[in-house]
Amino acid sequence: MNAIFTASALSLPFFLGASKFDTRRDLKCRFKVFAVFGEEEKKNAWGALFDVEDPRSKIPQNKGKVLDIYQALEVARHDIQYLDWRARQDVLTIMLLHEKVVEVLNPLAREYKSIGTLKKELAELQDELAHAHRQVHISEARVTTALDKLAYMEELVNDRLLLDRSTAEISQTTSSPSTSANSLVTEKRRQPRKSLNVSGPVQSYHPHLKNFWYPVAFSSDLKDDTMIPIECFEEPWVIFRGKDGKPGCVQNTCAHRACPLHLGSVNEGRIQCPYHGWEYTTDGKCEKMPSTRLLNVKIKSVPCFEKEGMIWIWPGNDPPTATLPSLLPPSGFEIHAEIVMELPIEHGLLLDNLLDLAHAPFTHTSTFAKGWSVPSLVKFLTPASGLQGYWDPYPIDMEFRPPCMVLSTIGISKPGKLEGQNTRECSTHLHQLHVCLPSSKQKTRLLYRMSLDFAPLLKHVPLMQYLWKHFAEQVLNEDLRLVVGQQERMNNGANVWNFPVSYDKLGVRYRMWRDALERGAKQLPFTSIDQIQN
Ligand code: FES
Ligand SMILES: [Fe+2]
Repeated sequence: MNAIFTASALSLPFFLGASKFDTRRDLKCRFKVFAVFGEEEKKNAWGALFDVEDPRSKIPQNKGKVLDIYQALEVARHDIQYLDWRARQDVLTIMLLHEKVVEVLNPLAREYKSIGTLKKELAELQDELAHAHRQVHISEARVTTALDKLAYMEELVNDRLLLDRSTAEISQTTSSPSTSANSLVTEKRRQPRKSLNVSGPVQSYHPHLKNFWYPVAFSSDLKDDTMIPIECFEEPWVIFRGKDGKPGCVQNTCAHRACPLHLGSVNEGRIQCPYHGWEYTTDGKCEKMPSTRLLNVKIKSVPCFEKEGMIWIWPGNDPPTATLPSLLPPSGFEIHAEIVMELPIEHGLLLDNLLDLAHAPFTHTSTFAKGWSVPSLVKFLTPASGLQGYWDPYPIDMEFRPPCMVLSTIGISKPGKLEGQNTRECSTHLHQLHVCLPSSKQKTRLLYRMSLDFAPLLKHVPLMQYLWKHFAEQVLNEDLRLVVGQQERMNNGANVWNFPVSYDKLGVRYRMWRDALERGAKQLPFTSIDQIQN
């Protein structure tokens, strides 16, 4: 999707600066922290940090053995434990050397030493420090390798799970009913396969999916006298501002004779129906009925709040959670574009598309992925329990944020180019938020917000908003013709998740999360309840 449209669409007037993740800056920060301790506290605090048992004696001896995946994971776990211990030792060494340097330079001690001795001692310490620093870099490299190994093993486990599901599907279509032990195993495997069966006409939205805060509009689009009509979970709503300036969301259907209210106007914080002039407040109460006696009439409204430049509603029947989530870009980024699009596809299909990057060199050949080569292997690396991670070989971090958001950060080293193995290697970044609001069975309201951590002046360039919108639509159109085709086939019974492979990981996880939610599972996969709702 438009995950990275700006990366290539523009030749932006910015320059490469020092990396944001400069280790020297990190070190400075560490010293700052160090400085807040008093001598005694410092010793105690550091003591706790270094008082970790050497884990080497506990590492299982597996040399020459063939390990299954669980044993291999255990080995990886020990590796990480060892590396943690090793890193602590490295830091301890550097700290001790640092203390020695202070001691050598101590003016009281200096009186008793010749300049020559002092020089010699300092030179030796310098050598030791250089060695210790090298050791730290080696430890860093080991940590990176160990994490890569873990991610790779997780790939293997996931591939295995997907393979099991496909096997279960084949067994389902070929085997006859039986009570043998084998058929019980097949039966067990059939259960998870269901989570990847997304076929047939789109069903009505499950009520559980409604119990979330949903962003429905950008604040900047809602003036005091404007109305924003939206469709959400197959119901028409209209958003407008009350007399106090706070937003409200009421049903977009007049209580009198069902005229769409958004065709009317907003007067003094009330929305007026264009047919016979009935006027409603933001909580749905009818306060004016011209030419007749005022009756006690109320239309439906939903909880509606404004936060960080977005209007949010709670369409569910459960009481809303106390806090609204935050969708602001990370610090250092400035918002450059906020775009809304109404799309003719079901929101799940749009999310599937946004959570997939492997399609880029095939689908986006006229926009951001023009000229991209096709990598021999595309992977999405993520913790076993997460809905976020990063793409390999692209410098792109991505997250599915329940219930319908995709956040991504794209590293840009040079204008129009994606470079580096990960986002941290890039000096400049583009951050994207995609909100896919479920409008109806074949419609999604897409809210797109784009932020940059460079070129702040760009947002003041006249008509820039139109350019961003143009680029976004171009990219989106490349996807839409494909996804609309998928949707038609899905409605006729095809399974759009028929044969997932390893790079489909994030999309598959989204589907598993959504299935579990709709089944009413107590513990949702890949996330905790807290994370979902806050
Ligand atoms: S339909 Fe709205 S006032 Fe009559
Ligand atoms: Fe795409």
